Formats: sequence, structure tokens, C-alpha cells
Amino acid sequence: MSRVAIVTGGTRGIGAAISTALKDAGYTVAANYGGNDEAANRFHEQTGIPVYKWDVSDFDACQEGAARVAEDLGTVEILINNAGITRDSTLVKMSHENWQKVIDTNIGSCFNMCKAVFPGMQANKFGRIVNIGSINGQAGQYGQVNYAAAKSAVHGFTKALAQEGARFGITVNAVAPGYINTDMVAAVPERVLEKIIARIPVGRLGEASEIARGVLFLVEDDAGFITGSTLSINGGQHMY
Ligand code: CAA
Repeated sequence: MSRVAIVTGGTRGIGAAISTALKDAGYTVAANYGGNDEAANRFHEQTGIPVYKWDVSDFDACQEGAARVAEDLGTVEILINNAGITRDSTLVKMSHENWQKVIDTNIGSCFNMCKAVFPGMQANKFGRIVNIGSINGQAGQYGQVNYAAAKSAVHGFTKALAQEGARFGITVNAVAPGYINTDMVAAVPERVLEKIIARIPVGRLGEASEIARGVLFLVEDDAGFITGSTLSINGGQHMY
């Protein structure tokens, strides 16, 4: 039986590419999403991948959502914590609400989802968790104290949980994307984005499929010795 994977934020952008790549590789995939029903329905129609709506920043919703997936598809053995949002502004202009929302969604979600699936992975003595970090969590970014703090926390969370999972056959790794051709990056003002692209040695934005490729590598059965690591996929923009 093929292993069951949950991809949070799995119906759009990088998450959609990860869901599709996992399905194409033979995994049974559940794609979680938070709000955009139209995009989720379209994704389901195009791929046949079942979609599940819950808010990853809500602890109880994550427990219920993961239990629903397990009931429908089987024990969850792979978790991709991909869901994330931006609310960019300088610190002075940033509201407390936009600070908290980004923290809750981008790192709170990792706690909420891992709490839901980790005990089952321990019992099965197998698990693969990949947390999607960011170049901006590694290097910082003007206008992103909330996002950079949350993504930096994703990297610390990964290394701590990797130590707890190791003796149970559970690997926990991070993928740190650079600037990828998605709606999130398209929302960056054009004049700012032009300057960012000029600093990418490869000379272009990345594609979502190029992140999915890294995730696929980390979840494979024979990747059991890779844990606590960060795979940076950023076109050479930040060599960390
Ligand atoms: N470094 C230094 N100074 C900068 C700067 C930078 N990177 N960016 C802007 N500034 C300066 C500007 O030159 C300007 O200075 P002056 O007033 O002296 O001209 C000042 O800061 C204000 O800049 P803006 O006019 O842009 O200010 P704003 O309030 O309109 O917007 C902002 C601020 C929202 C942060 C905007 O600059 C922005 O959106 N920046 C992009 C942030 C970014 O890269 N986000 C990544 C989103 S994608 C993502 O996060 C995915 C991932 O994981 C990679």
C-alpha cells in the first residue's frame, strides 16, 4: 500500500507542485487548504487529489483534519508543512495582528500538525516530515520581521524535532526555497522584485516543481539517514 502524505497549503503554488509530484511518484496524497475553495476545487478536478479544508493555525482544527485524513486514506506517514502567508511591511507600520497571524500560520502550524501525526509515526517506527522554510528565514528580508522570524523558527523547530524522531525512524528536514514563481512572489512590487532577481546568480525565479523535486528526495524510504538538514533551493542567492 502506498504511503499516505498530507501537504498543507497543498492546492496552490509550491504546495500544489509538491502534492502533484508525490502523487505522480505513487504516494496517496491529501492536500490541505485554508480558504480558497475555488482554487482547491479546480486543483481537485485537474489532479484527482482529495482536498481537505482546515486552518493550520488552529490547533483543534489540525487534530480533527489529520484524523479525518487518516480515517479516509490510512495512517499518515508523511507530512509536508508547506502552508504559509506573508503580510509584509516595515516594523513601524506592522500591526500586531499581522505579526501574530504570520507567526501562527507559518510556525504555529508546524507544532499543530506535528502534534497530530507524530505519535502515529512513533508507533509505526516510520515517518517523514518536511518543513518548508525560506531563504528569508536564513538571511532576513527588509519588510518581513514577522515572516523572517517565523521561517527562522521553522529551521530551529526542524533541528529539535529531528533529534526526537531519530530513534523512531522519523526524519525531519527543511527545504528553504528562494524566490519562486508563485502568487506570493508575484505580490512583491515589481520594482522591488526586479532588484531581487538581479541578485539571483542563476538569473531567474525558481519554479515550484524545483522545490517539489527536493521534497520528493527527502521523503523517500531510502532517505532515512538524512535528518535535521536544510536543503536550500534558491538559485545561488544565499549559500548557507
Ligand atoms: N534594503 C534597504 N532599504 C530598502 C529595501 C531593502 N531591501 N527595500 C526598500 N528599502 C527602502 C526604500 O528604498 C525606501 O527608502 P526611501 O524612502 O529612502 O526611498 C524605504 O525603504 C521604503 O521602501 P518602500 O517604498 O518599498 O516602502 P513601502 O512601505 O511602500 O513598502 C515593503 C515596504 C512592503 C517592505 C516593500 O518594500 C516590499 O514589499 N518589499 C518586498 C519584501 C519581500 O521581499 N517579500 C518577499 C515576499 S515572497 C516570500 O516571502 C517568499 C519567500 O520565502 C522568499
